[in-house]
Amino acid sequence: MDRTLKKDQRMTYETVLVEKKDGIATVRFNRPDKRNAMSPQLHKDMTKVLEDLRYDDEARVLVLAGVGKAFCAGMDLKQFFIELNDDRKEYDRILRLALEWRGRTLRFYPKPTIAMIHGFCFGGAFSIVEGCDLAISAEDTTFGLSEINFGMFPGGTVSKSMANLMRPRDALWYGMLGRTFDGKKAEQMGFINLAVPAAQLEAETMKVAAELVTKDPIALRCVKEAYRFSLEMPWDAAMALSGAKESEVAYLQNDAWKTGGIGDFLKGKYKPGLGGPGKS
Ligand code: COA
Repeated sequence: MDRTLKKDQRMTYETVLVEKKDGIATVRFNRPDKRNAMSPQLHKDMTKVLEDLRYDDEARVLVLAGVGKAFCAGMDLKQFFIELNDDRKEYDRILRLALEWRGRTLRFYPKPTIAMIHGFCFGGAFSIVEGCDLAISAEDTTFGLSEINFGMFPGGTVSKSMANLMRPRDALWYGMLGRTFDGKKAEQMGFINLAVPAAQLEAETMKVAAELVTKDPIALRCVKEAYRFSLEMPWDAAMALSGAKESEVAYLQNDAWKTGGIGDFLKGKYKPGLGGPGKS
């Protein structure tokens, strides 16, 4: 990754680093000494980062990653569960932020999101993986639902993330035993899209991100909105949503998908089945 970026291409937060390049914003959890455990400040920072990047035209795709030895070691067990124990209002405030940025904000984020995972990924970090649209991991990442190992169950967003993304036997196996699994296993389970050797993780992830940058952003947003809402809608409502989304795309693009997209195919300029314009 080229880190020789101009000052105005960087955004500054206490616990998160953001770099923008060629339409890709790389958001890195930056508490390497604590294996990027999610502290109250990190939840505040991520809430702000996602709000800032939502309206930033230079950020067309987001890649979420970690600095140092870990993607993320889950909730900061000390700063969240112990130090906020006697401050119920602050505990509630941070909990709401923690649930919201991973659970709702990421899931319905208007831009594509990719989790780039290495090192360790535990507990609450499963909800970051689940909230992102795509997930690519190093083969040797250690994943785990460690909560049972300290006498708890996967609370907050995590049980719902397990239900959304894991097969029943896997969810209960790992949730009840607290054993770890690696990136290759995560790929086999469908928990992530792809596991690659650690040395290739960044290059492979950036390749996928760059491919997403070439796609129409409005259509991309609707891919995920139509999919995610359809999961929880009855058939008739899903058809109505799909129709409405089609009108929305056509309106916002001024019918470009017909005039340029389908139009260019019919003129023999490219084959959409094999890629976007310029690819075939
Ligand atoms: N919450 C708070 N602090 C954490 C943390 C977490 N989830 N994960 C790691 N840390 C801290 C450690 O306490 C340690 O702090 P210290 O240097 O002040 O003592 C530092 O990060 C480094 O951790 P360490 O255990 O020495 O690193 P490691 O590379 O040997 O092991 C882990 C990494 C992730 C396997 C191990 O730290 C661990 O099991 N963490 C807890 C994971 C977990 O249960 N997460 C909760 C899910 S909700």
